Amino acid sequence: MGRAFVYVILGGGVAAGYAALEFTKRGVSHGELCIISEEPVAPYERPALSKGFLLPESPARLPSFHTCVGANEERLTPKWYKEHGIELVLGTRVKSADVRRKTLLTATGETISYKILIIATGARALKLEEFGVSGSEAENVCYLRDLADANSLVNVMQSCAGGNAVVIGGGYIGMECAASLVINKINVTMVFPEAHCMARLFTPKIASYYEDYYQSKGVKFIKGTVLSSFEFDSSGKVTAVNLRDGSQLPADMVVVGIGIRPNTSLFEGQLTLEKGGIKVNGKLQTSNNSVYAVGDVATFPVKLFGETRRLEHVDSVRKSAKHAVAAILEPEKAGEFDYLPFFYSRVFALSWQFFGDNAGEVVHFGDYSGSTFGAYWISKGHLVGSFLEGGTKEEYEAIANATRLQAAVEDLAEVGRQGLKFALTV
Ligand code: FDA
Ligand code: NAD
Repeated sequence: MGRAFVYVILGGGVAAGYAALEFTKRGVSHGELCIISEEPVAPYERPALSKGFLLPESPARLPSFHTCVGANEERLTPKWYKEHGIELVLGTRVKSADVRRKTLLTATGETISYKILIIATGARALKLEEFGVSGSEAENVCYLRDLADANSLVNVMQSCAGGNAVVIGGGYIGMECAASLVINKINVTMVFPEAHCMARLFTPKIASYYEDYYQSKGVKFIKGTVLSSFEFDSSGKVTAVNLRDGSQLPADMVVVGIGIRPNTSLFEGQLTLEKGGIKVNGKLQTSNNSVYAVGDVATFPVKLFGETRRLEHVDSVRKSAKHAVAAILEPEKAGEFDYLPFFYSRVFALSWQFFGDNAGEVVHFGDYSGSTFGAYWISKGHLVGSFLEGGTKEEYEAIANATRLQAAVEDLAEVGRQGLKFALTV
């Protein structure tokens, strides 16, 4: 049993949706493009799962957040794929790939062949078991990567209103879920090994603003330690979390956000990997000419930094997907992918954006006791990264622009005094 397509996108997440839209914009014939996804639904905006989806009032539900609404573009419902002659093979896991033969074998036993493959398999959530702790299978231990996880998180949350949640991990999932849990009137304790939250990006000063804000909402922080085990009741539900420092926290539910691993395993030994992802060039092309990789799974050259990076944020996913399609359909016209890294988050009434790289020396600016403040990262006399909380559209554009231009900085203290004015006058 088998089918053949010109283009196959493996994975049906954010990248797949944006790639599909770009294919139709640039011209693809009916029956040429196929998307294969393990998930049972058409591509959707994954960021909604830790924000709108978890709200107690009028929560976001599909079909409202199918791609590409996150970039204010068309909403691609299953009907849209049908009308555009794009084959959506949902609820189907690809269990092996042969890049020499240009075939994919699905768990249902079908062989799907391609002329051009776009790998968009994203990433999976790391499990506690990988850190030597068992209990992930308990019904009140939640992860958050896909719609099924989000549905079970909502069910668990609703079953313990007014109860206690322990959030494991102080990264994006930890911070965004903690805020959503508080909004759902659940008492939250966050536990993570670092000295402050969002350690991969925030400086201690930035982190302390958010931690104070969370504390004002009732969140407790236990830092510098990790969990060692769970206590269970007779039905197998977790009742408490034991920490390595010897303390114990009562828990009606647990949310785990301890990082991800890119889904590269189908291609190990077949394609070149780098920094945990599938290595691609400026056209998003892998070490095999017929295979492209985009989104969380791809390690691509960031021109601005002169090195390769693997990013885990939706803006780079959307843009890398679009660029790959341009490079496939119009190889002469499409230049090299030239991307300015952009990360953001929104929690409670807060909202921040970050552009570039958090390398070099840091200068903080603005009012850290108010609602608008930020930081610049300066390396070798140039601005390489910028962060802003509570900015306007124009201010975010200004820090993005100054970072892209790698504005020259002579006097760090002066830049700190100027704050936003520095970016606005570049
Ligand atoms: P993505 O993970 O979206 O999709 C991969 C797809 O491939 C899935 O459908 C999966 O089932 C499928 N797949 C994998 N292996 C397969 C196989 N063998 N066979 C078939 N199908 C397979 N970023 C940001 O910038 N701002 C934000 O606010 C957020 N918020 C956010 C919230 C939550 C809850 C999560 C989990 C993530 C975010 N992110 C984010 C990160 C962002 O969502 C992430 O970078 C993108 O979803 C990655 O898009 P991809 O398409 O690369 O993978
Ligand atoms: P993360 O990498 O942001 O954070 C992982 C956290 O796990 C670390 O901060 C650390 O505190 C913690 N940790 C590591 N080892 C631990 C251990 N043994 N015990 C306890 N804690 C430990 O990853 P995440 O928060 O799981 O997010 C998953 C993915 O989703 C990431 O790719 C992230 O970029 C993405 N995401 C992004 C956004 C956004 O951009 N706004 C929002 C949600 C999710």
